[in-house]
Amino acid sequence: MKNSAVSPDQKMIPVRIAGTGSYLPERIMTNQELEDLVDTSDDWITSRTGIRERRIAAEGEHTSHLAAKAAEKALEQAGLDGADVHLIIVATITPDTLTPATACYVQQHLGSQRAVAFDVSAACSGFLYALELARTSVGSGAFRNALIIGAEKLSAFVDWNDRNTCVLFGDGAGAAVLLPSENGDGKILSCALGTDGAQAELLNIPGGGSACPLKVDAPNEKLAYLAMQGREVFKHAVNAMKTASIDAIEAAGLTASDIKLLIPHQANLRIIDAIVERLEIDREDVFINLDKYGNTSAAAVAIALDEANRQGRMEKGDKVLLVAFGAGLTWASAIIEW
Ligand code: ACO
Repeated sequence: MKNSAVSPDQKMIPVRIAGTGSYLPERIMTNQELEDLVDTSDDWITSRTGIRERRIAAEGEHTSHLAAKAAEKALEQAGLDGADVHLIIVATITPDTLTPATACYVQQHLGSQRAVAFDVSAACSGFLYALELARTSVGSGAFRNALIIGAEKLSAFVDWNDRNTCVLFGDGAGAAVLLPSENGDGKILSCALGTDGAQAELLNIPGGGSACPLKVDAPNEKLAYLAMQGREVFKHAVNAMKTASIDAIEAAGLTASDIKLLIPHQANLRIIDAIVERLEIDREDVFINLDKYGNTSAAAVAIALDEANRQGRMEKGDKVLLVAFGAGLTWASAIIEW
């Protein structure tokens, strides 16, 4: 698997993360509750994935609401108001509506009238795709700042009768504010992104798009749900995240031993362990919260970044590696100097 884009471009203004935020719905769904829904067990879910519980959005609580709540916290930490934001990118595969973009609703919730707002659809890699888009947008001087958000309400697209998928996913949102780095401190050092459309069938939501519109008079509910060939995705995930990590580390002029914290996509503890082993990074230097939230797709890395930040896991100057993988197939990594 080859990364089609590896940065940094030295001509860019350095860009830093000035604030992070996250929001998780209140409702906790445990593995024990899932035992009542499908033929599964707490033991199977925990031993095969590491997931113990996940959050489920309330009825009427949409992806844009989760996104706006996470964004408010990131803006507060960055010392900005909604009205100050120039660019909003929401990474999601569970938008409020097919059109307009969820970012438009978020713009409205935040009162960010001057912001250009659009969505990115790159599944679990979406937040890091948004990070790179925002880095180049702010770094080129085209936008003064950017608010990036990974937000998902996967509970609305999961077949609650399918034990292969329903035990894996959860709802939530994470956000970050990007600003020019005046003195070069705290900047994003590199990103590596890749896509393999030949593997699109491994993980998708087949219905609801123009290829297979869902008709009110002839509904086929199954087509509206997330379908995944888990074992195949697992293999690709390990290879792609390893390659993306190495490419971003090399592009930043670093080695794996320079990485103080690894924040990986939170899909499966066994995938994380396989990457950690291949990169030879210490297990204590890996941030993990999938036991609490499951796989929140585009929100996962964003939520983990915010929790790591608020728990003081990163000190000034630390090199932090973010890496993700998802439907598309897509993958992405970034190195941040905190
Ligand atoms: N409870 C009990 N048994 C189950 C469950 C369950 N919830 N789910 C599957 N099984 C059974 C299967 O039916 C199978 O039984 P069989 O051997 O009798 O056929 C057995 O367990 C093993 O199934 P596998 O699919 O081989 O299990 P595996 O160890 O691969 O774990 C999993 C499945 C957790 C899905 C794993 O493959 C995985 O994590 N894949 C990657 C997921 C991922 O990273 N997705 C990317 C991001 S998601 C996005 O982009 C939106």
